[in-house]
Amino acid sequence: MNATNAPYTVLITGASSGIGYELAQRYLKQGARVFALARSEEKLAQMAEQYPQHCFAVKVDLSNAEDCVRAGNLIEQRVDYLDLAILNAGTCEYVDVNHLSREPFDKVMAINWQGTVNSLLFCVPLLRKKQSLTHRAQLVGISSMASILPMPRSQAYGASKVAMEYLFNSLRVDMGKEPIDITLVRPGFVKTPLTDRNDFAMPFAQTTAEAAESIMKGIGKRQWLVQFPWPLVWLMNSIACLPLRAQVWLLQKISRTSP
Ligand SMILES: NC(=O)c1ccc[n+]([C@@H]2O[C@H](COP(=O)([O-])OP(=O)(O)OC[C@H]3O[C@@H](n4cnc5c(N)ncnc54)[C@H](OP(=O)(O)O)[C@@H]3O)[C@@H](O)[C@H]2O)c1
Repeated sequence: MNATNAPYTVLITGASSGIGYELAQRYLKQGARVFALARSEEKLAQMAEQYPQHCFAVKVDLSNAEDCVRAGNLIEQRVDYLDLAILNAGTCEYVDVNHLSREPFDKVMAINWQGTVNSLLFCVPLLRKKQSLTHRAQLVGISSMASILPMPRSQAYGASKVAMEYLFNSLRVDMGKEPIDITLVRPGFVKTPLTDRNDFAMPFAQTTAEAAESIMKGIGKRQWLVQFPWPLVWLMNSIACLPLRAQVWLLQKISRTSP
C-alpha cells in the first residue's frame, strides 16, 4: 500500500453506513489508519473499538461549517497529512413536482453540496501536506450515475451530484500541477440504508461489497472516473449520447412504465 513504513492514512466521510462503512472496514483490514467521519457516534465508536490502533472516529455534522472547522482541527492534531480523502457522505430526497417545496432541495444540498465544500476546506490542506516525490495524495468524490442523465424526481439529488462533479473537475484545472490525484466515482444502484427507502425497481443493483471493490480498484489505479456496474454504465452513457429531446422522451417512457 505504501513503499515507506509510515501507515497509509485515509479519511472517509459518511463512514457510519453503506458504502462509506464498507470502504472504512476494507481499508482498516488492509492496515490503513482511517479517520471515520459521520454524525452517528455509536456506529463510529464500534468501529474504533474494533480497530483501536487504526480507526479514529470523528463525530461531525458535515453540513455545519463550524462543526467542520472543529473536526478539521481535531484531525490536524492527530496526523501530519492525509494520503487519501474520500468524500462520500450524502443523502437522497426525491422531488414531487406536483407539490414543489424547498425541503428536498435544502436537505440534499446541505450535505451533498455544502458538506462536500466544508469537507474540502479541511481535507485539501492535509492532502497538500503529503510531501513525497514518489507518492501522490488522492482526493475522491462519490458522485452518482444520476449525474449523467436528467433522471425522474432527481431534480435535487442529480443537481447536487452535477455540482460536485463540476467542482472536482475544475479543481483538476487549478490544482493540475499539485501532487494530488483527483478521482470521481459514479456508482449505479447500491443496496444501502439510503436505497432501502426506494419505492421502485433498481436495475443492476449491487451490494456494498461489490461497490467497494470497484471503488478501491479505481482508486488504486488513480483513475479520473470510476463508473459501475458496466451494464448500467453502458446503457446510461448510450442514452447520454442522444440529443436532449430523445433523452427526455426515453426517460419519460421509462418513468411512466416503472412501478
Ligand atoms: N446507494 C446508492 O445506490 C448510491 C448510488 C450512487 C451514489 N451514492 C452515493 O454514495 C454515498 C453514500 O451513500 P450510501 O448509499 O452509502 O448512503 P447511507 O448508507 O445512507 O450513508 C450515508 C452516510 O453519509 C453520512 N451523512 C449523511 N449526512 C451527514 C451529515 N450531515 N454529516 C455527516 N455525515 C453525514 C451518514 O452518516 P450519519 O447519518 O451517521 O451522519 C452515512 O454514514 C452518497 O454520497 C450517495 O449519494 C449512493
